[in-house]
Amino acid sequence: MCSIIGYRGGRKAVRVLINGLRNMEYRGYDSVGVATMDGAKIQVRKRVGRVDDVSKAMGLDELGGTSGVGHTRWATQGAPTDRNAHPHVSSGGRVAIVHNGTIENFAELRTSLESQGFSFKSETDSEVIANLLESELDGGDGVRGAVLRTIAKIRGHYTFAAIFNDGSMAATRRRESLIVGVGDGEYYVSSDVHGFVEYANDVIYVNDGDVVVIDDDGLGIYDGDGRRVTTELTKVSRELATIYKEDYAHHTLKEISEQPDVIGAAGADESAVSAVARSLRDAGTVYIVGSGTSYNAALAAKHLLLEYASIRAEAIVASEIPVHARSLERGGIMLAISQSGESADVLEAAGIARNAGIDVISIVNHPNSALARESTDVIRINCGPEIGVAATKSFLSQLVVLYKIVGELGGPGIDQEVISQAISGALESGPHVKEIARRLRDVNDVYVLGRGIHYAIALEAALKLKELTYIHAEAMPGGELKHGPLALLDEDTNVIIINPPGTTHDDALADAAKIRARGAHVIGIDTADSDAYDDWIPIPESDEAAHTIAEIVPIQLLAYYTALERDTNPDRPRNLAKSVTVR
Ligand code: F6R
Repeated sequence: MCSIIGYRGGRKAVRVLINGLRNMEYRGYDSVGVATMDGAKIQVRKRVGRVDDVSKAMGLDELGGTSGVGHTRWATQGAPTDRNAHPHVSSGGRVAIVHNGTIENFAELRTSLESQGFSFKSETDSEVIANLLESELDGGDGVRGAVLRTIAKIRGHYTFAAIFNDGSMAATRRRESLIVGVGDGEYYVSSDVHGFVEYANDVIYVNDGDVVVIDDDGLGIYDGDGRRVTTELTKVSRELATIYKEDYAHHTLKEISEQPDVIGAAGADESAVSAVARSLRDAGTVYIVGSGTSYNAALAAKHLLLEYASIRAEAIVASEIPVHARSLERGGIMLAISQSGESADVLEAAGIARNAGIDVISIVNHPNSALARESTDVIRINCGPEIGVAATKSFLSQLVVLYKIVGELGGPGIDQEVISQAISGALESGPHVKEIARRLRDVNDVYVLGRGIHYAIALEAALKLKELTYIHAEAMPGGELKHGPLALLDEDTNVIIINPPGTTHDDALADAAKIRARGAHVIGIDTADSDAYDDWIPIPESDEAAHTIAEIVPIQLLAYYTALERDTNPDRPRNLAKSVTVR
């Protein structure tokens, strides 16, 4: 996913653009670029690197003009190079565009445009948009007509914004986000509100296929037939102020640390939780889908529904749903879990479900996301903006919602205060975890074991370690170790055992003994120390739900501190983007 920002108003555009890109850099950070209308000419500066570095190295602040577009890229089509960085300018220099998403038919469009004399400088799919817009500009109906004819020709998922050398700006979207910010005589277009939240409080969520035009007459939004649409202004939520890191070194640390406080708002709408619980109880079949961390929450949901509500559900990685499309049973329910509500794999899974006559219910953080808008019922996790690329507080908030749902179905009632205390207690392991992180600096492999629902937590632990530290980390159910993976263990291996009190506790200690007998190092996450552990990370005694929700916290910290030891940026792991809006 990339970030897009556009501005037209009275300020020095490049400053607004750079600030917006800095706030959205978590969305993609391979390269940075801006284009402004400086005099009668579009000026472009772009390069591989991070916003602040590129801005300094290329003197972006020197660009004049009060309108422009900017972009940070997460490379999909074409390597992360200077040439492939956005904005892309049309051959005749009349249009500059920034794009997020995929243009599926770019190759044929490129061939056709080349045969008409248009030239290309990059390997991206995006550049066809610039040349298509230029090729359509002389239709006599201005920028609006050019954009409408362009989107009629392109296929795929996209948002793009363009500036034209007549001083106007346009933007449109198809299955990617686009938000317009409305200030006093000034307008912003952006992939998300973080792009302009400091300047404008009123926003318009643009509908799929609508075209935004900003020119001397102000703002106009048009449907696919070119008719003006009426739009609603929404006040930007105050919670967005929390995107700033305050005194924390990284957003990831801030987001881990604020978990005791944010979980209180998860699933706060009790009637929504009850409605979803009823639908799950009455459904023929329940499919729970998600990607990455949200899939790990889906797997936890499967355990909870079975254990507490005797509901047999299938947890399926969202990108696998197309493979199962033919076997989905009409009348079932799909419970789709997604922090962003914009992951392409999850949206596709939801679309397939709806086509199969299956209602989609979602658990999301972003209430205006595509997934939320397309769902029959929605439960919000309400954890505020998650800026660190790796999911942390959203996972805990998802678990809280899931416990609330099963609470309605006969499961254990949860006490938010008890959960907050358990998380705060787990956070106290920070100094000890830092020491362990020092030892993990040079290791190559970490295994994480958990049984039952704690296997889902182990998967999440391994994912956090992979993402933040680039160490190979693998989760497995504790009992599986002896069926093969034991062959991998030697004195250089570290094994984390998630070992809650209860029926599996002794089995996990027996796993630990087998591991230590092979010379590997065991880190136990437990309420009590044991001789079976080389290192013990304590989790405070608590009830079952609070324990399960809190036990990922020390591993989040471990991943964070190990990232610092290994000199990687925990907020922006290489090759990743906050939400993956491509398939
Ligand atoms: C992991 C992570 C990703 C996301 C995944 C799904 O730390 O951030 O694995 O969990 O891309 O994203 P959402 O939940 O937005 O659908």
